[in-house]
Amino acid sequence: MKILLIGSGGREHALAWRLCQDDPQLQLFTAPGNAGTGKLGTNLPFGVTDLDGLVDWAAKEKPDLTIVGPEAPLCAGVVDRFEAEGLPIFGPNGAAARLEGSKVYTKNFLLKYGLPTAPGEGFSDSRSARAYSQKHPTFPQVIKADGLAAGKGVIIAQTAEEAATTIYDIMDQRVFGDAGNQLLIEEFLPGREMSVHVLTDGISHVLLPIAQDHKKLGEGDTGLNTGGMGAYAPAPFATPELLGQISREVVEPVLAAFRKEGIDFRGILYIGIIWTKNGPSILEFNVRGGDPETQVLLPLIDTPLVELFQAVREQRLGQVTLKLNSRHAVTIVLAAGGYPGTPETGVPIEGLDLELPGTTVFHAGTKQDGTSVVTNGGRVLSVTAWADDLATARELAYQRAAKIHFAGSQYRRDIAARLTLE
Ligand code: AMP
Ligand code: GLY
Repeated sequence: MKILLIGSGGREHALAWRLCQDDPQLQLFTAPGNAGTGKLGTNLPFGVTDLDGLVDWAAKEKPDLTIVGPEAPLCAGVVDRFEAEGLPIFGPNGAAARLEGSKVYTKNFLLKYGLPTAPGEGFSDSRSARAYSQKHPTFPQVIKADGLAAGKGVIIAQTAEEAATTIYDIMDQRVFGDAGNQLLIEEFLPGREMSVHVLTDGISHVLLPIAQDHKKLGEGDTGLNTGGMGAYAPAPFATPELLGQISREVVEPVLAAFRKEGIDFRGILYIGIIWTKNGPSILEFNVRGGDPETQVLLPLIDTPLVELFQAVREQRLGQVTLKLNSRHAVTIVLAAGGYPGTPETGVPIEGLDLELPGTTVFHAGTKQDGTSVVTNGGRVLSVTAWADDLATARELAYQRAAKIHFAGSQYRRDIAARLTLE
């Protein structure tokens, strides 16, 4: 089998690793990939939104399936382009990807269907945004740039001054560029966050184990926001009762609303949930697997991925059984010096070959440079471990991480540290 995988992060190396385990004869091509995917197959010189390059390559090389990792190509309509050429591809189409690409669109959708979410409103000019912010003087207030902003477009304003400055920065100074053409202001909801991944073909769906990300750079959830510094799954607080409530109050009504709205969603839907005193509330939709959540979900799934992805594409997911094992997985992100600001690139990484059973190292921002592997992005590696219990998985992941060295490396020592219900 021949597969084209689009992306270059830890999520994509994890997908590549898993696809190669499922099929040792696999011919894997990754665009653009990283040093890790380059060891499993061939990296192609196309950026993730180089739709012309990707379509041309696929039209010539005829992969059996193309799998899209990140949101940018999905929002740019890569699935529509491939399908127009009759090329098989896994992921939601451009219209469905708006659920991640526009926070204002999504808030309006959630409110229209009475789905649980924080009250809020979208604006396309700074004057009305400021007026709304001043009329709702409850702080903190959550201000979100509408479009894709690499996980940086959400600001939790603690004061009226901070809210006004944020609105000015996003809409007038355009610090997030076109992502700030519109802006969303919503109520702050305190609670526990969780990452809910649903595989759906628009008719049937399966819920994957609940994962938890660690979005802040610093231990104890302090410091700047990042793309995610580590994750674990399944979350111990995800009791059968909680899963039932998530299915009844979130997943089923969301998928029913997609159908009513005419949204043909086939792919991985990642629902960011916050568990408030009134139950689950939807923070956001992502139209792809989380990074680093995918790194901890894949070791828990026994069904071959291509089988699941093909079934989703062909809308026969209802005929496939999702087999989960009873493992627990933990991943720790090793980030470059400077991250989440400008990362230090070109720094040699040592210790990648020091293996430990029950662990693997997924590459993210890495590049092959002659015989060495060097840093090439903010999140450099995703050190992942699995075991029969979470504490052992955590221990193994930290043992493996301790073997890896590069100048400026930073990682949190408290990933999966809060293992029990608070
Ligand atoms: P989002 O990209 O919309 O999920 O927002 C990024 C992060 O901001 C979330 O993971 C939460 O930690 C935080 N956040 C977003 N919206 C809210 C809200 N309404 N209340 C509390 N925290 C929020
Ligand atoms: N881990 C957060 C995300 O993938 O959006």
